[in-house]
Amino acid sequence: TGTRTFFVGGNHKMNGSKSMLESLCTGLNEQVEKKDNVKVFIAPSYPYLDFVNNKLDLNKIQTSAQNCYSEAKGAFTGEISANMVVDLGIPYVIIGHSERRNVFNESNQLITKKTKYAISLGLTVILCLGEHLADRQNNKTEKVLDSQLEDFKSFSADEWKKIVIAYEPVWAIGTGVVASPQQAQDTHVYIRKWIAENVSKDVANQTSIMYGGSVGASNCSDLSKQADIDGFLVGGASLITNDFVTIIKSAT
Ligand code: G3P
Repeated sequence: TGTRTFFVGGNHKMNGSKSMLESLCTGLNEQVEKKDNVKVFIAPSYPYLDFVNNKLDLNKIQTSAQNCYSEAKGAFTGEISANMVVDLGIPYVIIGHSERRNVFNESNQLITKKTKYAISLGLTVILCLGEHLADRQNNKTEKVLDSQLEDFKSFSADEWKKIVIAYEPVWAIGTGVVASPQQAQDTHVYIRKWIAENVSKDVANQTSIMYGGSVGASNCSDLSKQADIDGFLVGGASLITNDFVTIIKSAT
């Protein structure tokens, strides 16, 4: 990862309860050690954002929202705004997760709009990308990534400073089928090359690219050794304190 920040994020998806989060936060506060160049966050479900943000030792672990909309406020039942996330003092938001794209039909266009808006308010966006199994089998991975990245050509270097990419191949999410270190490394290199060619070399060198998809306590250390893997976005294993701590400790 060189000089890039290594990010480890726990995406709780639609899981958790007050008591489960209470013990998770206590465990993480006790076991996570602060390291230069490593940033750790967890993204609980919306109702628990403030609760978790108040429980965590924010010097070591921060909070992220799992999504937010592209408007400040108004008649958007069921949505939350980036302004609200900022109001809670939360620094991160995940945008474009494959479940948002695939289950809730979010388009590249909407994802771009939401990312731009969240960045404009100072949030750091964890921007998720990734191909389906059929895309990989048909050698379409690069094409899919190109189309997911296309709109970000127009983002300035300053805007890119607030973006962390999370490469999450859909076939690896929640399946137990993790990408091999080489598969992940190769795809991260491709994404970095895309940024170098379409934004700038500096931005490409500086942008952290996390990997997500069946990351666990037993596969994290081989993945983290890859030069272009700059972190992990963890689903299932982030709900288990010891597993998540092991993953955090694998940060290089
Ligand atoms: O955002 C993280 C996620 O999609 C990966 O989930 O359960 O495969 O680690 P999981």
